[in-house]
Amino acid sequence: MPKSASRGTLIDTMKLTRFAERFSRKTGILELMDDLGRAMDGRSDMRMLGGGNPAHIPGVNEIWRRRTAEILANGVELEETLGNYDTPQGKHAFLESMADLLNREFDWNLTSKNIAVTNGSQMAFFLLLNLLSDTDTDGLKRKVCFPLCPEYIGYADQTVEPGALTTRPAKIELTRPGFYKYNVDFEKLNVTPDISALCISRPTNPTGNVLTDQEVARLAGIAGERNIPFIIDNAYGAPFPNILFRDVKPYWDNHVILSMSLSKLGLPAVRTGIIVAEESIIEAVSACNAVISLSNGSLGQVLVRPLIDSGDILRLSKNVIRPFYEKRSKSAVAALQEAFGDDIPYRIHESEGSIFLWLWLPELPVTSAELYERLKARGVLVVSGHYFFYGLDDPWAHADQCLRLSYAQDPVKFREAADIMADEIRRVMDTGK
Ligand SMILES: Cc1ncc(COP(=O)(O)O)c(C=O)c1O
Repeated sequence: MPKSASRGTLIDTMKLTRFAERFSRKTGILELMDDLGRAMDGRSDMRMLGGGNPAHIPGVNEIWRRRTAEILANGVELEETLGNYDTPQGKHAFLESMADLLNREFDWNLTSKNIAVTNGSQMAFFLLLNLLSDTDTDGLKRKVCFPLCPEYIGYADQTVEPGALTTRPAKIELTRPGFYKYNVDFEKLNVTPDISALCISRPTNPTGNVLTDQEVARLAGIAGERNIPFIIDNAYGAPFPNILFRDVKPYWDNHVILSMSLSKLGLPAVRTGIIVAEESIIEAVSACNAVISLSNGSLGQVLVRPLIDSGDILRLSKNVIRPFYEKRSKSAVAALQEAFGDDIPYRIHESEGSIFLWLWLPELPVTSAELYERLKARGVLVVSGHYFFYGLDDPWAHADQCLRLSYAQDPVKFREAADIMADEIRRVMDTGK
């Protein structure tokens, strides 16, 4: 077709819809996933502390190889896995296995009607956040409230309705020299009538925080009193992948929508999220699945179901995955401490779970976004902290002073990255820009 000067790209010439405006722009999660995909493609020599890719743990990979071989050897299982659509709720056998596992472990009295599968838990949040935040039939704009900001970047741009997420700044507790922890500031929580749900990630992405059992019980109490859902994102939690370094109890009641995922077990590419909730929520999620995807990918469900039934998934999480990340976390903290010495003012959030360290540089003379660019130019990929501070009522200087660092990849590369970070931070502190 001849090029016409008056024509731009198709998206320019298309009348921009609200949906196109919301979902086709450049977002933090796009930058993060784009960096991640490029750095992980095997041809990059970037030191990869960005993104949330799980580690490739040999003892875990061995199990996926074994399970794949079993499926291949069993012709019927392979054909059924690849050749059939599931119900929009998920594979019935998988839903039963999940309910049984959670009942055995936590005595939650669930049935398969309390479980739904989605194409990754990111998709589950897209559905849940849009189901819960919009202008209601009385004209009230309903919002989902995140009581502990900074919170997961992946929620930030998910709602069709702009301004539908509201967050509350965390209270900072200085725990010991060089470390700190975020707590929920209950005095400022203020759950106004337009709040349609509360939501937290526990362990928290990006900070590695784990809300205490008391905080969770108090938030659940508030949601119960108001009769609104309390969404707990358990992508890193118990019983799998169990990347939890604190002894806390998982929580579920009828107001709770618990989100789980196979990704951090080491299976991000099979895109399998799991929702545990009251039956009406499961029916709504299943209805959305049918409209949007017909059904979910089945491979993840087929790969892990025997491990769920045998309990091997618990042993794997407890004996292999958790110790692996706990060791990596300790080595990453030591690398930062050695590289940063006594001259760089910094604090690390207490590492209580997940696969990230959260670094606070209270005297940084440039923004974290600028530091991200400088580090990228020197071969170190991190995530700028400002993306995790969405939905606040008032500006907060702290939002430009933090970095998220993944410690899932090679510790030798992490140490190299820590040295380069220290050098670059010293440089900006010396010059003031
Ligand atoms: C807290 C949290 N929730 C949800 C997700 C989405 O994960 P997935 O869609 O792979 O299940 C992630 C991914 O990193 C996450 O960290």
